[in-house]
This record gives sequence, structure tokens and C-alpha cells, in this order.
Amino acid sequence: MLKGKNIVLGVTGGIAAYKAADVVSRLKKQGANVYVIMTKNSKAFVSPLTFQSISQNYVVSDMFEDPKTWDVEHIALAKRADLFLVVPTTANVIGKIANGIADDMLTTTIMATEAPVYFALAMNTKMYTNPIFRENVRKLESYGYHMIEADSGRLACGDVGAGKLAQPEEIVSVVVDAMTRPQPLQGKQVLVTAGPTIEPIDPVRYITNHSTGKMGYAIAAMAKSMGAEVTLVSGPTSLETPRGVKRIDVKTTREMFDAVMAHQDHEIIIKAAAPADYKPVAYSEHKIKKQSDLFTIEMDRNPDILRTLGSQKQEGQILVGFAAETENIKEYATRKLNEKHLDMIVANNVGQKDAGFGTDTNIITLYDAMGQEVFYEKMSKDQVAEVILEKIVQLMKQK
Ligand code: PMT
Repeated sequence: MLKGKNIVLGVTGGIAAYKAADVVSRLKKQGANVYVIMTKNSKAFVSPLTFQSISQNYVVSDMFEDPKTWDVEHIALAKRADLFLVVPTTANVIGKIANGIADDMLTTTIMATEAPVYFALAMNTKMYTNPIFRENVRKLESYGYHMIEADSGRLACGDVGAGKLAQPEEIVSVVVDAMTRPQPLQGKQVLVTAGPTIEPIDPVRYITNHSTGKMGYAIAAMAKSMGAEVTLVSGPTSLETPRGVKRIDVKTTREMFDAVMAHQDHEIIIKAAAPADYKPVAYSEHKIKKQSDLFTIEMDRNPDILRTLGSQKQEGQILVGFAAETENIKEYATRKLNEKHLDMIVANNVGQKDAGFGTDTNIITLYDAMGQEVFYEKMSKDQVAEVILEKIVQLMKQK
């Protein structure tokens, strides 16, 4: 099942290190080439010879080892990996990577790889629930690293609770799943827009909306995991860039227009951003002082990016828009679908609880150019992203 796949397996210094040998053996049986990197501490638990015998590859741990004994230097291993797995993963290694510390062979190689990285966690239960550790895990997840959470049970230290390494067969099944998952967007260039835009009034004030970028970032991350080459044009947000995604930051709708039009040749364009439709006619170089009680700002129309893309649509291109509505959802959404020459529009009622701006969930209806309409119950924004991209894969087959 994993024939010809290259897996780099990191072993860190925990009592469960011996179970990593079973994981290596199972991966080898699946046909994978396994390259083991051990931390200095892990060698106190298991000998490198064990991993060398099972993996049939030289085990590396020293950054400054004589390269004559090792034909693949660490950056090459980072590049060679189709998947990176760490078994077991200590709180120490999670803490280092979450804070950008690369002070040994394992952490350096992980930080240099673009392959998906899976951490199988194992530690004392108090460490496992420690808020500092959980915060580091959350931070790494937001960058696209994957966690294989620990099981509960009696731990080596005698405590009972969560922190026990997941069973080797479970770890291997996560890896097999990840490596054999279909990549229907492989070789496709996908452009996603996300977040709000801001339109300055003077040096201290601007007009914007409530978009946080969560919806668009979820789509970008999911498209990447489905094999696409993803460019994300993002308005101002506090979100981390999904791993492997190229991000272009913009502020105003005009800047978003320019960035999107520069990537107009992408095969799939998904416009989840909420660009401001209007901008102040005049920008004041100096802070506007209080004058009378009534204050009026004259506004000018911004370019409609999606409409422009639709009017210049390329052969075979898939163009997907969003419709943020609070009433007459179907009428307004299908009007945008038709007038902007879209293949599909994702309508969300932004007046509804748990949908639209800022939430982790969304409630959507998909309308496509063939007149199909599908309503979805409340889902996480990650699930919404998956539904949208799967529908795009279907639409591509019909082109
Ligand atoms: O970012 P979150 O907090 O996760 O919130 C998600 C969301 C509510 C922003 C998202 O789900 C959403 O609905 N995005 C579209 C917001 C919007 O601008 O809707 P609209 O109906 O005004 O615009 C229709 C479409 O035209 C959109 O695809 C929009 O990106 C695009 N547009 C709008 C104005 C403009 N000047 N140029 C555009 O291309």
C-alpha cells in the first residue's frame, strides 16, 4: 500500500520509544522506505541499532556526523520525505517546534520539510493537559501540523489518565490513510481570497466589515491537502498561513483586485473574501477633526473583482463566489451566479446564528450553473471547505 513512499520517522526520548520499532516494522511491511532520526535522549531508551536493523537504513541523530557515513544530509531527508512521523512525541519537541527552535537533527529536519508532519503524542498526563503544552499543540495545528492524540490508561510513571501513546496499528492506519487519500486537485492551481478589506478614511480611521478570514483559510488549507498548488489573497486577519500555501497580503479592495487579476489564469478561483464595495472618495492626509454633529463621508464604488473575472472567464476555468445575504437568499445568490458568470455560488445567511462572519461553523446552500441547489446543515468551516472542493472536482469532470 505504501510501496515506494518515503517516510521519515523521528523518535524522541520517552518510555514509549520502544513502540516506534513496531511502527517502523509495520510501515516496512506496507512497502515504505523508512528513515529514522533519533534525538539524543531517545537513545537512552532504545539503541539506534534496533531501528537500523528494522528500517534497513542508517539511523541518523548527530547534526555534525561525518557525511561519509551518511549519504543523505538532513535537508535532503526533509526534501525526500513524503510524510514525516514522530513516535513518540514529547512535550519538549512540541514546545521547540512551536517556538521555532531547531537545535538538533530532528527539529531541524521537521522545520525544513514541506511534507505533512504527524506527531504521535505520549507523555505524563499532567504534562499532556498542561495549558502551555495544549497552547503549543493548538499553534502547530493552526500551521497545518497533525496530532495523533494519546490514549488514556495506566502510564509508565504510575499515573492513570491521558498520555499513553496510541497503539502502533492505529498510528500506522493514520499514516496509510493520509498517504493513500485521493488527491483530486493534484497539479491544479487554486486561487482563494479570504478576509475583509479595509478602506482608509484618514491616518487613524477606516471602513471594513466583520470577516475574519476563517472561511477562506479553511478552503485554502483543504485545497492544499487535496493536492493543489494554492495561492491565498488575504485581507488583514490574525490567522496563520496554512502550511505550503502561498499568501499575498492586501489591504484595500483595489489591492485585492490587482492581486487577483495577476493570478487570473488559475484553473480554480474561489472568492470567499468580503471586499468592501465602497471606499471614501477622498482620503484625508491628516486626522479629520470633530466639526458638527452630523458627519457625512462621500463614497465611491470599488471594482467588483468577481464580476470582472466572470466577464473575462478563461476556457475550462471554475469560478466560485460566495453570497453573504440576510434575506431573499436564493433570489440574490442566483442573481449573482448568473450575472457574474459563475460555475457555483456558496450562499450563507450571515444573519443566522453559527453562520457567516467570525464563527467556526457555517450553514450553506450551494447553487450551481446547471440549476442544482443543495442545502447543508450546520458544519465546521473545514467541512464546508471539503464539501465545496468536492463539488468543484465534480464540476471539473463535467467541463
Ligand atoms: O471570513 P469569515 O469570518 O470566516 O466569514 C466568512 C464570510 C461570511 C466572509 C464568507 O462566508 C462569505 O460569505 N464571503 C463573501 C462575502 C461577500 O462579500 O459577499 P457579497 O455577497 O457581498 O459578494 C458576492 C461575491 O462577490 C463574493 O464572492 C465576494 O468575494 C465577491 N466580491 C464582492 C465585492 C467586490 N467588490 N468584489 C468581489 O469580488
